[in-house]
Formats: sequence, structure tokens, C-alpha cells
Amino acid sequence: MRPKIVAANWKMHKNFDEGMQLATKILQILHNPVKHTVQVILFPPCIYLDVISKLLPTSGAYVYVGAQNCHEQAFGAFTGEVSAPMLRSVGAKFALVGHSERREYFGEDSALLAQKVSTALIHGLRPIFCCGESKQIRAAGRQEHFVNKQLATGLFHLSATQLAQVIIAYEPVWAIGTGSMPTPAQVQVMHKYIRNTIAHQYGMGIAQNIPILYGGSCNAQNAPAFFACPDVDGGLIGKASLEAEAFVAIVNSLA
Ligand code: PGA
Repeated sequence: MRPKIVAANWKMHKNFDEGMQLATKILQILHNPVKHTVQVILFPPCIYLDVISKLLPTSGAYVYVGAQNCHEQAFGAFTGEVSAPMLRSVGAKFALVGHSERREYFGEDSALLAQKVSTALIHGLRPIFCCGESKQIRAAGRQEHFVNKQLATGLFHLSATQLAQVIIAYEPVWAIGTGSMPTPAQVQVMHKYIRNTIAHQYGMGIAQNIPILYGGSCNAQNAPAFFACPDVDGGLIGKASLEAEAFVAIVNSLA
């Protein structure tokens, strides 16, 4: 049985006090039964990781923190950057890699993302590898081919043992922060395609155990329909994760 996961991508939102309030409120209202069935991962700005990780329940761990990004090198003269070992040392257990905003605004290409994935894994961070097509690619019906390439170039250098540590987030770029989104049926087609692509490369045993999350304008209203799809194992939530009740409602709809 693969784990169910709901992740909160705060992006560059919330000052420190607001972030603390949000994290505290989420932890307060997450219901106990959830902890046995769903893992919750918060991705705050990295300078809050240390403090927020210390708020997390220590027994029966089911809430984690992760980093929105990490550098492809473990250390060195890279002014302004933050490395996987640093993130790990302040409590991060996961890292987003290949979010479309990183690809688009920071020019992160496949070769760089492949390196980031490897570095994260070597230093004990589980990557959530994001993939997904643009509006133009969807309009041309080339979304499967496109995502296949993202997976092949970003992940398929990994050994089977390493790949088994990876979580995938399918996030069509045209659905991120836009309020428009694919239908649950379209999401299921893509998730199944992604699982089959992994199976083709690594075998069905591994593919069946990889969580594949949906992201892109997912909210408390539409989450139940996405989560009902057999190959959707949870969500990567942006805007709707900035409000504790809305985020916890999404978590509860997966539980
Ligand atoms: P959104 O963002 O939920 O605001 O569309 C999702 C994401 O970027 O991960």
C-alpha cells in the first residue's frame, strides 16, 4: 500500500509570525485519525524550517517539513544558496524538485534537476519531483510525450532503490494558480500514464509503490473528486494551503 500524502507549498508567502500562526493552527486542527492514513508535509520558506520542525509531534510522526528547493551541490562557494545537508540539519525530510516556477523563472533544466534529485537523495531528502505540461502542449495533445521526457531526463538515471524514495507530483502548468484545471478523468489518465512509464523502466513492483500527487488549483471543493481516482495518491497544494481550515479540509478528504 503506497502512502497517501497531502503537501502544502507555501511558496514565497507569509512572514515569520504569519507562518508560525499557520503552522500552529494546522497542527491544532489536524484530527488524530488522520495520522494513521495520511502523511502531511509542510513546505514553508526555508528560513522557517528549523522552528516549524520543532513544533511537529514527535511520536507517531505523520507531519513533516520539507524544502521548496535545494542546491545541486552539497556545499561550496555558492553565495545565497542552501544545500540539502543544511536543509536536513534543520529538520527537512523532503524537497520539491522541478516545480514549474523553478523551471520557468529560474531556468532550471532537466540536467540540473537530475543533479538536484541525486544530491537530495544522497543527503537524506526525499524529492517530490514535479512534472506537467503547458497549455500549448495540452492543446496539441502532446502531454504524455512531454511528461515522459521530464521523467526520463529528471529521474531515470536513478537506481531502483533510489527511485523508490521519490514522490511524483503531476502539476499541469496551466492549472497552477489559475483556477482552471483538468477533469478528474484527465488527471487519472496522466497519473496512470506516469505509473506505467515508471513500470516500464523499473518494473510494476516499484511503480505501484510510488505516490503520485496531483497539484494545480486543488482546493477543499474539488479535492475529493481528484482523490477518488485510483492513481491519485494525494495532492500538492499551493493557494489553498495558506489557510489552515481549507488545507486541513483537503487532508481530511483524503483520510
Ligand atoms: P496552486 O499551486 O494550488 O495554487 O495551483 C500548486 C503548486 O504550485 O504546487
